[in-house]
Amino acid sequence: MGLFFNKELNSLDDLLVLELDYLYDAELRLCTALPKMAEAAHAEALKTAFEEHARQTQRHVSRLEQIFVDMGRSSNQETCDAMKGLISEGKEIIDATGSPEVKDAALIGAAQRVEHYEIAAYGTARTFAERLGLLDVVRLLQATLDEERETDERLSTLAEQHINQRAERHA
Ligand SMILES: [Fe+2]
Repeated sequence: MGLFFNKELNSLDDLLVLELDYLYDAELRLCTALPKMAEAAHAEALKTAFEEHARQTQRHVSRLEQIFVDMGRSSNQETCDAMKGLISEGKEIIDATGSPEVKDAALIGAAQRVEHYEIAAYGTARTFAERLGLLDVVRLLQATLDEERETDERLSTLAEQHINQRAERHA
């Protein structure tokens, strides 16, 4: 939400469109950020998780574009300051010096912040679409929401089973 935010919100349709515009901006930013996180990851399993989620994220962009088509709108980005901030925190970790094992634990923390933001945003948009009876839109948003949740769980498992122990040993 920019400094000069002056959208007119008169209906749930307006609100759904705004949510989708923020999500589109957020996903496009992630398409650039996730490969950098994959490159920065030290543990092979974490690198693979980021690479796979980068590919999934391209599909998330395509689904949003399909939703815009279904709704008879052109794709539009509304700057997502929240995602900009989360990505810039991630970049600080990428650029940090120190133990690769500790940095891996930090990268997971940064990535999970992103996932939680997306889970909240997709959940909200999906619920609005349900309310509006836009069943195709609901189906596409739910598909992405499920993948964001799976990614979040996969990152939790990686942290709990491997990465955090390695980071602790290097503390
Ligand atoms: Fe996504």
